[in-house]
Amino acid sequence: MFAAAQKSSQPIQKFGAALNNPTAVASGKQIYGARCEICHFSASKAKKIGPGLANIYPGGKFANGKKVDDAAMRVWIEAGGKDMPGFREVLKANEVRDLIAYLRTL
Ligand code: HEC
Repeated sequence: MFAAAQKSSQPIQKFGAALNNPTAVASGKQIYGARCEICHFSASKAKKIGPGLANIYPGGKFANGKKVDDAAMRVWIEAGGKDMPGFREVLKANEVRDLIAYLRTL
């Protein structure tokens, strides 16, 4: 869909300062609870269905060796993985942004 494609092609840079906004972090935490918690612990690295996401940013790397940054995180969340569903059609751009704001705090 054109509108959706347009949204997901917004450059990550537009997230900018919004990522440090407590409102975005709180919203991201809720989205995480609704969409991600079922497969990922947020407070540890232990495996649930997928790997625990604690310290994913300070850790610096995805399991596949790629560098963790906001752009790569967005691509991952939107595309999904081998056993992880993609969220491109599920989450709006601002929801992905809020989720990233939260993941940065883990
Ligand atoms: C149905 C279970 C499931 C759901 C729901 C899910 N994931 Fe995943 N996730 C996985 C699995 C399994 C992996 C392991 C890699 C793979 O499948 O390719 C993974 C991997 C990841 C990774 C990479 C971790 C690393 O260290 O490489 C991130 C980041 C991630 N998920 C974030 C999320 C976020 C954010 C959400 C919510 C929007 C989410 N996941 C929802 C199952 C899930």
